Amino acid sequence: MNENMMNDQTLIVTGGAGFIGANFVHFWIKKTGQTVVNLDKLTYAGNPENLELLKGDGRHHLTVGDIGDQGLVSSLLKAHRPWAIVNFAAESHVDRSISAPDAFIQTNVVGTFNLIHEATTYWKALNEEEKTRFRFLHVSTDEVYGSLEKDDPPFTETTPYAPNSPYSASKAASDHLVRAFHHTYGLPTLTTNCSNNYGPYQFPEKLIPLVIHRALQRKPIPVYGDGLNIRDWLYVEDHCAAIKTVLMQGTPGEVYNIGGNNEITNINIVRTICRLLDEQLSPEVGFSHESLITFVSDRPGHDRRYAINAGKIETRLGWNPLETFETGIRKTVRWYLDHPQWVENITSGAYQKWIQTNYEDRK
Ligand code: NAD
Ligand code: DAU
Repeated sequence: MNENMMNDQTLIVTGGAGFIGANFVHFWIKKTGQTVVNLDKLTYAGNPENLELLKGDGRHHLTVGDIGDQGLVSSLLKAHRPWAIVNFAAESHVDRSISAPDAFIQTNVVGTFNLIHEATTYWKALNEEEKTRFRFLHVSTDEVYGSLEKDDPPFTETTPYAPNSPYSASKAASDHLVRAFHHTYGLPTLTTNCSNNYGPYQFPEKLIPLVIHRALQRKPIPVYGDGLNIRDWLYVEDHCAAIKTVLMQGTPGEVYNIGGNNEITNINIVRTICRLLDEQLSPEVGFSHESLITFVSDRPGHDRRYAINAGKIETRLGWNPLETFETGIRKTVRWYLDHPQWVENITSGAYQKWIQTNYEDRK
């Protein structure tokens, strides 16, 4: 192959050592056999152990670095000449964005700008046929649409943006940059806005793995406010399949909402996990993990409800989730029970400091 040609067997994934990114790297290589160049800064949330199963597999290359590093991104594009870039890299935890928003602006806004800017330079130099085939897929969130009241209809792709946290505002800004690069330069972009994911390799700062981890340690399980906030939950492999579908079949310039049709209150999520742990661990008579549930002070600016209308991706591209919440949460609890070493390794050190910062002063 001419070294200036685009390589239709190579994909660049950013943030592929994090939760969804790592699941996607595994999924993509399994389903397509293509090579993945994985650019990840390895922040506290990036964990090479998530990619352990690919050790020695020539189809996966991890480059440790920042999407905001112009020279690095440019040289990776020149060296690997991918047919697509999938951008997962982000600061992703709402509570951290409340206590320290700076990194969210740096990575989610400035970093995404740098990545898409370099991608555009690379794309402009491709031949016409390659330009048409190239894709830049930006992975975003339903939080950009803000918060719903109890009876509001679910978010569609045309719901106006109304982000409420520094995290969702930074993701909204990145979505606007992606939109503008398509509109102004013609870069073939795709944006996906997905609801809450859960599954293997999720860092236990997020609700579901946090609850499992705390319950196993017999420590108080913190539920913010009244526990009646609602999220729409999607098993991570269904999200990976949706991203693959959009990458292969989506129309450049379009946005696709992705969701699991599983609107559940936080307290019901927590009770379900406690029930599954009671069942799986058959604890002593009289003990229920539910007794660990502790209501704590609310998250500032806490969005009340998210719900996704995934009709567009379902009807136009034929994607549907395979897991129900009942099947997905069972698999997830089992995975954490079967991987105590993974949990042990990531919950030492800096993790303890975060738990202290976020929970110690909460009443
Ligand atoms: P995560 O926090 O688990 O992983 C983020 C990854 O990005 C980590 O590996 C981290 O090291 C890497 N990273 C951070 N800053 C970087 C930088 N400057 N350069 C390169 N790499 C960097 O996040 P996640 O939950 O896997 O989310 C992935 C993406 O999906 C994010 O863009 C997030 O906004 C979006 N999303 C997440 C959810 C969810 O429920 N988790 C739902 C919808 C959308
Ligand atoms: O909706 C998609 C978003 O989902 C993603 O864009 C984010 O990256 C991801 O972190 C997630 O955001 P949430 O804020 O919804 O997820 P989190 O797991 O932090 O919290 C889920 C709900 O549980 C939320 O209403 C807050 C509540 N919660 C969370 C924690 C960590 C608690 O009650 N107690 C807790 O200790």
